[in-house]
Amino acid sequence: MPLLKTFSSAILALTVSVAVSAQPQITDSRTNFDSTNKVFRLDGGGVSYIFGVNPKGELQQIYWGGRLAATDSFPQAAPQPDWASFDTSYTTTPQEYASWGAGLFVEPALKISLADGDRDLVLHYQSYSEAPDGFDVVLKDIHYEIYVTLHYAIDKESGILARSAIIESREPQAVTVEQAAAASWSLPAGHYTLNYLTGRWAGEWNLTQEKLQPGERVIESRRGSTGHQANPWFAIQSGEASEEQGEVWFGALAWSGSWRITIEQDQLETVRVTGGYNPFDFGYVLHSGERLETPVFYGGYAAHGLGEASRLLHRFELEHILPRTAATASQPLPKPRPVIYNSWEATEFNVNEAGQMALAEKAAVLGIDRFVMDDGWFGQRKDDHAGLGDWYVNQQKFPHGLKPLIDRVHQLGMDFGLWVEPEMVNPDSDLYRQHPEWVLNFPGRPRSEARNQLVLNLARPDVRAYVLSFLDKLLTENDIAFLKWDYNRNWSEPGWDQLPAAEQKRVYVEFTRNLYAILAELRHRHPNVEIESCSGGGGRVDLGILRYTDEVWPSDNTDPFDRLTQQNGFTYAYTPQIMMAWVTDSPHWLNRRSTSLSYRMLSSMQGSLGIGANIANWTPDENALAKRLIAAYHQVQPTIVQGELYRLISPINGSEFSATQTVSKDKRQSVVFVFIHSTQEGHLFPLLKLKGLDPAANYTLSSIEGKTWPGTPQTASGAWWMNHGLEMDMGFRGDFQAAAFRLDRR
Ligand code: DGJ
Repeated sequence: MPLLKTFSSAILALTVSVAVSAQPQITDSRTNFDSTNKVFRLDGGGVSYIFGVNPKGELQQIYWGGRLAATDSFPQAAPQPDWASFDTSYTTTPQEYASWGAGLFVEPALKISLADGDRDLVLHYQSYSEAPDGFDVVLKDIHYEIYVTLHYAIDKESGILARSAIIESREPQAVTVEQAAAASWSLPAGHYTLNYLTGRWAGEWNLTQEKLQPGERVIESRRGSTGHQANPWFAIQSGEASEEQGEVWFGALAWSGSWRITIEQDQLETVRVTGGYNPFDFGYVLHSGERLETPVFYGGYAAHGLGEASRLLHRFELEHILPRTAATASQPLPKPRPVIYNSWEATEFNVNEAGQMALAEKAAVLGIDRFVMDDGWFGQRKDDHAGLGDWYVNQQKFPHGLKPLIDRVHQLGMDFGLWVEPEMVNPDSDLYRQHPEWVLNFPGRPRSEARNQLVLNLARPDVRAYVLSFLDKLLTENDIAFLKWDYNRNWSEPGWDQLPAAEQKRVYVEFTRNLYAILAELRHRHPNVEIESCSGGGGRVDLGILRYTDEVWPSDNTDPFDRLTQQNGFTYAYTPQIMMAWVTDSPHWLNRRSTSLSYRMLSSMQGSLGIGANIANWTPDENALAKRLIAAYHQVQPTIVQGELYRLISPINGSEFSATQTVSKDKRQSVVFVFIHSTQEGHLFPLLKLKGLDPAANYTLSSIEGKTWPGTPQTASGAWWMNHGLEMDMGFRGDFQAAAFRLDRR
């Protein structure tokens, strides 16, 4: 019986603390801090987030969900009871930032060890202060001079919160941070579906959905960068996953190094999501006065399904994450991406002045905005065995430098982009011969190569300076509008032998920070340059890199049918604006699948369109079709990439059909894409009930490809399109069929 007694007395304590709560006294408008009940409150969009200091001094989450009335108030946070003698209140209470100590059995946000061997840390509230975009709450260990400053900000439109932490030691002895999250998010006990994104090279962006079970689900990268295998995004839906219904809590971690998000349902069915630096092989030594800052973990809430969750994220990314160039600095949104041509699939490493000029001439005729020369232009680069690190123009391929090609591209009315892979080096390069010590390595041990390359240790100040200087020189000496920044392997042997043994693991933090610093400095010195984040496809896509890059390469897999699934998965976390999508040759090199040019074009037009085929071989008919569709795309591009996205029919799980719709923010235009994989047993395309239109306005439907569909153009009210729906013509059947429509408000 003693076990039960502990539990029931704790329940009693909880009841009493609610009953005697004092009247709130709001003393601070930014934090909505109620100093009587020690409750902090953030409101934005349709969301309220509330947490407070409980009587024990712990910072505890109180509420995260739909927006509450300004008059609603909360009593002081009450710690959860002990669950018998095995789980004390310290572990059952949903703390905002639980440190490992005092018998914590759930995932800690912070774990440290001190030089004297003590590893116990118990953080209690100390103070709060205003910050430019929100506020900071300071916690301190009950004994040591170890401080944690938690930063909170909320976006007033979307209700998306930004949370991060700074860990500071003022202890005379060294403190090693072994685990540091940006934030923990808590959800009440319930039945949930977890959504996350998994994949591999050429197979990224699979939406993985599972019932949340007791225990911990870990999604992570131990690779030194974001990774293709999992992406730092999650969405937890109450009950079953649904596109337009049900509550969803979602989050995205802004970090491009090794990361980890744990989703944990404890024995009482409450849920905590904790994310930040990956604790695997982690160790950051703090000497007295030093600080470790975590990445930002963004978190949001949507009342209407995964569709609303992604629409909130898309708008937030467009408005608050993506960088602006000097030309668009005062614009509310970054400009839609230029339609690019990229030479990679056409020529691979075999680039030269004449060949690239010939491709540029063909591209210009199609209406391409930007011509990008991919890998192969530098050093002694003939294939992937040599050249990385030697960022001078290859004299055999470009005897007069890049200028003649760039000038020709400009004359043709396009701007010019160039491929680089700054963090890598081939052992067969002048750079490696001069600086073998610059790569990640454990001295005296083998250096594992992948794609015949090694990773430069960007954490080293000399490597950082080298990378910045060659990129700066390249951009200063050439009229380059765009860099495709590639990164084609993950880390191995991550040693940093310049530092004392105990401090070498700093590499997990400093490498990525230096990457961000170089990107920021380049953008500062060349304020109109634009950058794409590529890592052998979608290996480095996250809200950290997206602060410095304008777009991403989602996958090396450009098969237009596979892309439907990938694009579907991608858009749960990221806006279609950054989703580059090239039209390449058929049959496709990966699946040997043949598809029509029209199908390929429409698949790519769901994102930011590009052409990556060998257009030197295109027929006049193919040129004419591509030209017409690029022109049609230009007309509706802002709606597609910056509008509100509705995934009407998902292509996953072998679906015979798929469909998406986007609606411009002002509801003046909408674009619909429909795809058939293979018609079976004569099934007709399902009736499409459109979404997001103004019910009272009239919209005229027309074909984007310029096809004459029976019954189009057709004008009807938004209510008609949303309730009666769009009926596809019976003739729309077959294998790999596609169509696209626009609806324009009259
Ligand atoms: C991997 C990228 O994803 C490709 O698009 C291409 O740029 C190659 N690297 C070049 O090596």
